[in-house]
Amino acid sequence: MDTEIFSQVDNYISNLLAPEDKVLTDTIKSLGAEGLPQHSVSPNQGKFLQVMMIVCNAKKVLELGTLGGYSTIWLARALPNNGKVVTIEVDKHHGDVAQKNINNAGLSQKVDLRVGKALDILPQIIAEKDEPFDMIFIDADKPPYAEYFDYALQLSRPGTLIICDNVIREGKVLDSNTIDEKVKGVQRLNKMLSLNTKVTATILQTVGVKEYDGMAIAVVNRVHV
Ligand code: SAH
Ligand code: DHB
Ligand code: MG
Repeated sequence: MDTEIFSQVDNYISNLLAPEDKVLTDTIKSLGAEGLPQHSVSPNQGKFLQVMMIVCNAKKVLELGTLGGYSTIWLARALPNNGKVVTIEVDKHHGDVAQKNINNAGLSQKVDLRVGKALDILPQIIAEKDEPFDMIFIDADKPPYAEYFDYALQLSRPGTLIICDNVIREGKVLDSNTIDEKVKGVQRLNKMLSLNTKVTATILQTVGVKEYDGMAIAVVNRVHV
């Protein structure tokens, strides 16, 4: 398959609709300089997250998996003045790099970066009994994606949008005999989405400058009486 066309069209779209400023290009550079993996969302995916935030009038957003803060910056930039992104990152070094990038973006007031395992921090956030999140972006390690989704539901209200990155893995999700724990993690999530009556969900395949993948999008259903 000639995938060059997907990158070229992705660049065409991002040049038009998701141009990066210096804060964003410096954030990507910091990943290389600090030895972090190049797993950030693409510019168009960052813009997509912003469009979704505006659709759901998001004032409070939760992110699992901060890396260098690239997606966090896209998210925080689509918040209203008093809005907040809570973002969870397990790796102390990733967290340090992300905090610098967030500060450099002038977004430290809007971003609450919590360093620790998502499975430890999520119950703490639930215990805080704060308002539910308007949108939740799941992009941390893939094996516990279904557990993350369950926690996300506990932190949601009807209408909350839950978006999960990397749920197609270059089509490896088709292999029901896979031993790849990341693929197994997203297969479990996708199956769970098909069975869960609390949400209405779909998956968008994503092609472009990143590897072929997909994002699951689920909205928490309003309760019918
Ligand atoms: N959302 C980022 C990319 C995240 S890459 C962006 O688009 O810019 C995935 C991140 O999840 C990595 O930084 C990794 O360290 C982190 N991660 C892995 N396991 C985790 C866990 N158990 N809890 C929280 N974060 C985790
Ligand atoms: C991987 C993780 C990501 O969040 C991503 O967007 C791409 C790849 C990975 O762990 O392989
Ligand atoms: Mg990802």
